[in-house]
Amino acid sequence: MIESVLREERIFYPNPEITAKSNIKSMEEYEKLVAWAEKDFEGFWDYFAKEKINWLKPYEKVLDDSEAPHYKWFINGKLNITEQCLDRHLEKRGEKTAILFEGEPGDIRKITYKELYGEVNRVANLLKHKFGIKKGDRIVIYMPMIPEAAIAMLACARIGAIHSVVFGGFSAEALKDRIEDAGAKMVITADGGYRRGKPYMLKPLVDKALANGCKTIESVLVVKRNNESINMAKGRDYFYHELVPNMPDICEAEIMDSEDIAFILYTSGSTGKPKGVQHAIGGFILWAQMTMEWVFDINEEDIYWCTADIGWITGHTYIVYGPLACGATTVMYEGVPTYPDAGRWWQMAEKHRVTKFYTAPTAIRILKKLAPDEPKKYDLSSFEILGTVGEPINPDAWIWYYETVGGGRCSIVDTWWQTETGGHMISPLPGATPMKPGSATKPLPGIFAEVFLEDGTKAKVNEGGFLCITKPWPSMIRNIWRDPERYKKTYFSFKDNIYLTGDDARIDEDGYIWIMGRADDVINVSGHRLGTMEIESAIAKYEKIAEVAVVGKPDEIKGEAIFAFIVPKEKITDPEKFKKETQEVVTKEIGPIAKPDYIVITEGLPKTRSGKIMRRILKAIAAGKEITQDISTLENPEIVKKLQSSKPI
Ligand code: WTA
Repeated sequence: MIESVLREERIFYPNPEITAKSNIKSMEEYEKLVAWAEKDFEGFWDYFAKEKINWLKPYEKVLDDSEAPHYKWFINGKLNITEQCLDRHLEKRGEKTAILFEGEPGDIRKITYKELYGEVNRVANLLKHKFGIKKGDRIVIYMPMIPEAAIAMLACARIGAIHSVVFGGFSAEALKDRIEDAGAKMVITADGGYRRGKPYMLKPLVDKALANGCKTIESVLVVKRNNESINMAKGRDYFYHELVPNMPDICEAEIMDSEDIAFILYTSGSTGKPKGVQHAIGGFILWAQMTMEWVFDINEEDIYWCTADIGWITGHTYIVYGPLACGATTVMYEGVPTYPDAGRWWQMAEKHRVTKFYTAPTAIRILKKLAPDEPKKYDLSSFEILGTVGEPINPDAWIWYYETVGGGRCSIVDTWWQTETGGHMISPLPGATPMKPGSATKPLPGIFAEVFLEDGTKAKVNEGGFLCITKPWPSMIRNIWRDPERYKKTYFSFKDNIYLTGDDARIDEDGYIWIMGRADDVINVSGHRLGTMEIESAIAKYEKIAEVAVVGKPDEIKGEAIFAFIVPKEKITDPEKFKKETQEVVTKEIGPIAKPDYIVITEGLPKTRSGKIMRRILKAIAAGKEITQDISTLENPEIVKKLQSSKPI
C-alpha cells in the first residue's frame, strides 16, 4: 500500500467566539451525535429528516436497503426541493438577499428571496408551457457564473425536470457527449460571460455541439450576458429576456417523490467516458442543509461565499441548494480570482462583509504565491469560517489561509467529499474539532468511514489503504445514469455493499483521517477530476500519435499536473509545435483544463508481457522518483532508463 510521508504535528483549537455561535460546541456533543447514529441509525436520520424538511406528504419508512446497493431513503415521502429553498422563506425573509452576484467587470446584483422565487416561477412556466418540458425530461445547463444559472437549475427542479449542468470550461465535444448521454431535450445557455477581463463565448460552442449530433435537443434558451454577437437558429433558439418577463409569476411546484432524480452531474472515473452521477431529491436536500448548518454554522446574518463553479458538485450543493435551503445569502462571482489582480477576492470579501468563505487549495496556493501579503491590505475581520475542498491541502497553504487570510481567529474546515457523496462527509466542526493542518479530521455524525487494505481487512493505525464509507447515507449517489452495472462495479464491488471512495487514506492515532490521493487512475488537476483514459482518448485523436499514456505529476500549484508519454507515428521534427498541436486537440475534445503540461516523446511505453501499460512506473518517472518496482518482468525493461533520461517538452 501507499507509504505516507506527510506527518503534521500541529493542532489548532477553535476560537471560543466561533464556538459560542456554533451548532455543535464540543467534541463531547459531537461524540454524542456519533453514538446516537451508531446505536439507532434510522432513528437518527428520521429525527433530522422530520425536523429539517417540509414534506408535502410524510415518508413511510426511513431507509429501504432491500435492493442494496441501490439504497432508497424516505420512502414515499413527497416534496419539492424549490419549496425547501424558496417558498418556505418568503414570509420570514422575503426581502432578504438570496443571491448576491458580482460580475467580473464589477457589476453587482442583489436578488431577494421574493425576487428569486418570482423569477424561478416564471422560468419554470416558460419551460413547461412554451417548451413542453415535463417531469423527468433532461435539460443541460451550460452557463457562466451568473444568477440565471442558479435560476435555471431551480426552475428545472420546480417542474420536476432533471438538470445536468455542464461546466462552462468544457469544449463543444464534451458538451455534445454529455447532452447525448443524458438524452437532453433542451439547452439553457448564455451568449458568454467575462473572464480575465475579456468576454468569452458559450453559445457558439452549443451551436457546434448541436451541429454534430444531439438529435434530442428541441430548443435552446439563451441569456444575454456579454452582448457579443451570436447566431440564433430560427425556431430552435430563443432569448431569455424576450420570453421570461411575460410569463406568469406563479408556477405550482411539481409534487416529487423523495427518490425521484434531483439532477445528473457528469464526473470522471478511471475507465471509460464520464459517468452521470444521479442524486435523489429528499436525501440530497436534507444533507445539503444539515451540512450547511454543521460545517458552516450558517445563521441569519451570514454572508456566505463559495467560489466554486456551478458546473461542479460544490457549486450545486454549496452555492445553490444548501445555502438557499438554509435561507442564507449566497455570493456568486463570475470571474477569476486574479482579475484585475490577486486582491480581487479579498477586496470583495471586505466590500460585502463575507463571514463564511469556501474555496479550493489550488486557489489558495496561487494567491499565496502571487501576492502573499495582499490579504493584509483589506479588512477581513468579518471572516469566521474558511473552508477548503477538492484535494488535500498542504500544511503550508493551510497555515497561510489560517493566519494571513483568517487572522488566526477563524476555523478552517477542510471538507472531504465527492460528486457521488452529494455533500460533506469528513470535516471539522468549526466550533468543536481541534484542527490538524492537512487532515479533513473526522466523519460527520451519521457518516461511517473506515480504511481497508486490499485484502478487505481493516488497516492499522496510520496504515494507508482504501477509504470506504461503511453505511449508506441520505445524499449518496443513487445510480450512474443508464448504467447500473457500472454503478455497482465502481462503488460497491470491493466489499459487502459498502461504498468504495476511490481515495487512499490513513487514520491516525486520534482517529483523524488523512487523505493521501486517488487510488485509481483519476488525476486531480486544480481540484478537478479527470480520468486518464478520457485524456488519453482525446490525445489519441491526433493523427500523428500512435500510442499514449497519461499520468499525474505532483505540482506545487495545481496539486497534480498532466504528464503525457507519447509514441508518435513518425519522427517529430518540431517538438514545440507538436506539443502545441497536442494541446489544441485536447482543448477541442475536453477543454483547456485537460491540456497536458508535460510531454515526453518516446519510442515505446513500459509494458508487461500481456501488454498492460505500467502506469505506476510512468508516475514515478514523471515525478522524478526512484523506481522501486521490479522492472525485469517487463517486456521492454530498457525503455525505463530511456524515459528517465528524456527531458519533457
Ligand atoms: C478529492 C469535489 C483531500 C478526493 C467535492 C475526492 C479531497 C475527489 C478533498 C472528489 C479534501 C475532495 N481533501 N481530497 N478535503 N475534497 N478531495 O467529485 O480525491 O470533484 O475523491 O468532488 O476530490 O472530487 P469531486
